[in-house]
Amino acid sequence: MEQVLEFASVCKSFPGVQALSDISMQVCRGEVRGLIGENGAGKSTLLKVLSGAYQPTSGRITIAGKEREILSTRDGLEAGIAVIYQELYLVPEMTVAENLLLGHMPTRRSGLIDVQKMYDTAKAQLTYILEDIDPNTKIKELPIAQRQMIEIAKALLHNASIIAFDEPTSSLSDKETQRLFKIIAALRDEGKAIIYVSHRMEELFEVCDSVTVFRDGKTIETFREMAAVTPDMLVQRMVGRDIKDIYHYYARPIGEEVLKLEGFTGPGVPTPVSFSAKRGEILGFFGLVGAGRTELMKLLFGAEKKHTGRIHLNGKEVVINAPMDAIELGIAFLPEDRKNEGIIPIRSVEENINLSARRKHVKGKFFLDVRWEAQNALEFIKKLSIKTPSKDQLIMNLSGGNQQKVILARWLSEKTSIIVMDEPTRGIDVGTKNEIYSLMYKLTEEGKTILCVSSELPEIMGISDRVAVMRDGCIVDILQRDQLDKERILTLALPDRHKSTIHNSNERGE
Ligand SMILES: Nc1ncnc2c1ncn2[C@@H]1O[C@H](COP(=O)(O)OP(=O)(O)OP(=O)(O)O)[C@@H](O)[C@H]1O
Ligand SMILES: [Mg+2]
Repeated sequence: MEQVLEFASVCKSFPGVQALSDISMQVCRGEVRGLIGENGAGKSTLLKVLSGAYQPTSGRITIAGKEREILSTRDGLEAGIAVIYQELYLVPEMTVAENLLLGHMPTRRSGLIDVQKMYDTAKAQLTYILEDIDPNTKIKELPIAQRQMIEIAKALLHNASIIAFDEPTSSLSDKETQRLFKIIAALRDEGKAIIYVSHRMEELFEVCDSVTVFRDGKTIETFREMAAVTPDMLVQRMVGRDIKDIYHYYARPIGEEVLKLEGFTGPGVPTPVSFSAKRGEILGFFGLVGAGRTELMKLLFGAEKKHTGRIHLNGKEVVINAPMDAIELGIAFLPEDRKNEGIIPIRSVEENINLSARRKHVKGKFFLDVRWEAQNALEFIKKLSIKTPSKDQLIMNLSGGNQQKVILARWLSEKTSIIVMDEPTRGIDVGTKNEIYSLMYKLTEEGKTILCVSSELPEIMGISDRVAVMRDGCIVDILQRDQLDKERILTLALPDRHKSTIHNSNERGE
């Protein structure tokens, strides 16, 4: 195979951080190369170096046999490189067509933008990838999944020969993921070189031809054939140790009923839903995307207005009309869309961790308890192994997965009795998942109750004491731990018309 891309001893440092300390790897035409490594291992930084967004501190990049200096993203585009980032870079206020053609607008002889041509080019490009979208739609009106598809359309429009994807499926449904995989396969067949970054092991095996493991800014090993490697081997190379059972579930004492919801309805939850949870319990919520899990949690937390429903907390009826009510009652909610609902980019890790708990730690009347804040931040940096040079680093300089951990730390800093977690380990590496599960068990041993929404069936089965299966905005059944069985859960979760396909259906569902 013809080699089109080579990194030779590429290094990149930031103040106090050696993000890349020795990256060497080669990628060929018609190859899909997976990259895997712990949060902060340097994957996104490498892609930014490739695209021209960052300059390497040292090392060489060779493209199609020529050594290139990629000094800007424009240089990168000209060299045939497109990177679809972990954080999307579309302009929300502009339309799909404007975003696609940004910087390359077709103009009339008068110099004015040729709106019709812009529309047509965009439309033609979109049919390749996402038929049913109007190029005149504003980006902000689209769900994240579709925005991502538009980033891909944009890369294709520039006819890139090297296309890199940074955790592209983290907000896609299974159907959209499958569509993306088809597109990637087609691009490979056209002879493009593709780099694919993901924490989802099963995806690497599905879509990649080869895989390179990163650890601490170094390329540890490249496996040229997926057939020659197992998930355990990858985990071992990534974290430098064996993790046999990442869930390591154990039975813990479960107390009396603490939370009871009765007859809840609201947006996304059309028929009344009731359930209860006990002290020290992890109650999992499984369902396919769109089954109403997040919607139900938002109703509970007061983030959406419920139409009907009553809540009892420790046997007493309580009123939750807004998130503040829920927080006052000791309920915390770790939202699914942490990037948009969570971080304050230009503030430090410490401030981001303490943001919501700090009002309860005030000295005298007005003074923040600076010592408590520093200690709390340091404690969580350690507990969740947040990779940062110090607690004072700006959160925007942390890797994607480490930003997630900071938001998790924020909610865990709150004095709470009930914690709702929506996809708590999305974008988080296996080693840290392991630590997060341990922390969840520990919290329940302290008497907290966890409601955990996840689309990953192995995760839900791995950590829950009971699992509520949702479909079409209803809880169809609640299973005890000893009743948990993959087929049984999927049968409950799938809409009737899909039941016959259960055996070849993917675990994350549609
Ligand atoms: N602009 C920056 N300033 C300072 N440090 C940075 C900057 N960008 C990245 N880093 C640091 O470089 C290291 C590598 O980060 P990178 O984002 O490449 O990790 P990653 O492998 O993509 O992780 P994840 O799986 O969490 O996305 C991290 O320690 C991160 O904090
Ligand atoms: Mg990253």
